[in-house]
Amino acid sequence: MAVDTLEISDALGVVADALARSDETLALASRHLDRSLVDVLAILGFDKRYVSARGSYLYDENGRAYLDLHTGEGFASLGHNHPDVREVLEATLASELPGGVQIHYSPLAGLLAEELTQRLPAGLDAVFFASTGAEAVDSAMKFARAATGRPRLLSCDSGFHGVTLGPLSIVGDEFFKEGFGPLLPGCARVPFGDLDALERELREKDVAAFIVEPVQGRMVTIPPADYLQHAQAACRRYGTLFVADEIQTGLGRTGKWFALDHWGLEPDVVLVGKALSGGYMPVAAMVTTRVIYDKAVGTLERCYVHQSTYGRNRLSMAAGLATLRVIERDGLVEHAARVGAFLRAGLEELRERHELIKEVRGLGLMIGIELGPPRGRAAKLNWHLIHSASEGLFPQLVVIPLHRDHAMITMAAGKNDVIKLLPPLTLSEAQAASFLDALDAVLSDCESGSGKNWAVVRDIAVATMRRRVPLRSR
Ligand SMILES: Cc1ncc(COP(=O)(O)O)c(C=O)c1O
Repeated sequence: MAVDTLEISDALGVVADALARSDETLALASRHLDRSLVDVLAILGFDKRYVSARGSYLYDENGRAYLDLHTGEGFASLGHNHPDVREVLEATLASELPGGVQIHYSPLAGLLAEELTQRLPAGLDAVFFASTGAEAVDSAMKFARAATGRPRLLSCDSGFHGVTLGPLSIVGDEFFKEGFGPLLPGCARVPFGDLDALERELREKDVAAFIVEPVQGRMVTIPPADYLQHAQAACRRYGTLFVADEIQTGLGRTGKWFALDHWGLEPDVVLVGKALSGGYMPVAAMVTTRVIYDKAVGTLERCYVHQSTYGRNRLSMAAGLATLRVIERDGLVEHAARVGAFLRAGLEELRERHELIKEVRGLGLMIGIELGPPRGRAAKLNWHLIHSASEGLFPQLVVIPLHRDHAMITMAAGKNDVIKLLPPLTLSEAQAASFLDALDAVLSDCESGSGKNWAVVRDIAVATMRRRVPLRSR
């Protein structure tokens, strides 16, 4: 149910202004924020005015409920505005605990570190809290260099680790990097799953860290069997730190507390972010061993060299603790495994009936649906036209009608043909079933030759080809 906002106000009028001016949301964003993104939302028909969010649903101004199967790339993994996390945040504010005092530690930070590390392999008990995933990745890059005395950093093709300059240097797609160079020296990549290529790089014994997502988030790529165990062993052989970037896969997303649990991994560093605050506060963490932590910054003179003003702020820490406790209390890891299996089985069944689905991949509630070319002549021509206009546009054939006709939010995964699902871990089987029904209907429509959905995406393709320049002249 949408929230009744009439009763909500504050003396400074902040919330009242946000409510009163909500019809200006996109205009304000276009004027002051990310104008080209606003344009893209309008072109794709995603420029809705969502006025509230609760659990698995967003609500627009007309009270239409949208099932959110993407949750902001997995950040609202408890569902939107979880009431128990909110209660903890309100209690933390009411307690007037000190925050931001650099000569002091909030007990909340130590408690969150304790509860987080209890869910990770033994020995990973030293934590650096940051505000964003990119900052946690950056911390691992710095700590690995400092702890090993080695300059190079290794990552995987198609990997994603964030867009600030450090993480961007190890991201696996050039598209993100264009125009932002020069990036960090000493960064190299190997194909995900290629142990020989990894070993060739490690043999030089100058690699500080191999940083890898256990399941690649961009296209939901599952590693070949045993790849990660062998990669970890190779890192150990050559003195390279094995860093698991679990910023997307962590905290129940793949049906285990951490994806590393699927393979019994014991990384030297684990990175956590996104879902850690239940979608309320910016928070991320680099978790490592005490030995590595101390080697990097463990002397009295160096204790200040790696800090972050908001890194362990009380609200983020409190939200983190609340989130871990909700996941545990409500059995959400097991729930994600169960509903994820149900959803993937349903998608497999759709794949057998629909030529447009090429492959379904995933673990738990991290799922990729890869589309493939249709067989019909006209549809094939459209497929080529759309692909030559823009890599990554084709999934909109399905994503747009799912949103427009069925009020379901999914995302095209980038410059590829994958639709990505990162639903809340609280997704019910009934909600998963309603998504399967909607997808079935959309695919049937696309394959029936009705042309309605094709026309929308073809028009976008043609417009894109006409405007291979910034969406508006600046
Ligand atoms: C695996 C992974 N690492 C790092 C990041 C960067 O996180 P943030 O956007 O919080 O900087 C992301 C974000 O999508 C991610 O998926």
